[in-house]
Amino acid sequence: MNKKFVIAIDGPAASGKSTTAKQLAKKLKYIYIDTGAMYRASGLCTMLQNVNLNDEAVLKNMLKKISIKIEYAEEGNRIYLNGEDVSERIREADITKLSSQIAVIGMVRRKMVELQRKMGKNGGVIMDGRDIGTVVFPNADFKFFMIADVRTRALRRWKEAKEKGEIIPLKEIEEELIWRDKNDSTREISPLKQAKDAIPVDTSGMTIEEQVQFIYNKIE
Ligand code: CDP
Repeated sequence: MNKKFVIAIDGPAASGKSTTAKQLAKKLKYIYIDTGAMYRASGLCTMLQNVNLNDEAVLKNMLKKISIKIEYAEEGNRIYLNGEDVSERIREADITKLSSQIAVIGMVRRKMVELQRKMGKNGGVIMDGRDIGTVVFPNADFKFFMIADVRTRALRRWKEAKEKGEIIPLKEIEEELIWRDKNDSTREISPLKQAKDAIPVDTSGMTIEEQVQFIYNKIE
């Protein structure tokens, strides 16, 4: 495979996008870009700088100066916000909610899409998110739309939290996923939806290896 493709993976929260994209990137020697992390970092930035989301001028100024960098690391990419490593902080519950709230704002999305297009312009990238196949790279070489039932997704997040030593009630995780999917798919700008030419992948009954292999086979 000599051509450097752009591969888009979209889908709801915890549907298996990032785990699959990460492993696939390794296999293909591609760059993995987690666009959700960029919305998370933007959300964190508004919190750190006390930006009122309704104050357009202040938000615009924040976005003008914002620096978001994704750096490759063997054990998982690191995310830098204005030079600071925020990789762990952006996974916390308050930022998860804030990322979905800030993702409805046009100005924020325009900035993120601009950065994402720059990152992917030379190909050889796997980008995961909500609007990659529909808005960021509508001409992507490959588009996948990952889904899984809510119980499976909640269990995945529950296990991830447990590995970090946190016990969160499954019901709470389920409710958060349902709230976020609704918020993401009903927003006016670039809502979460399957691109017409995307290949659907239901990961409910699949292992990680199967997910990765399924996509890999399609690309090959
Ligand atoms: O990893 P998880 O599926 O929980 O979420 P994420 O991919 O880190 O994305 C966090 C939030 O960012 C989502 O709930 C969306 O609101 C927003 N997002 C977006 O609007 N567009 C993207 N391309 C990626 C994320």
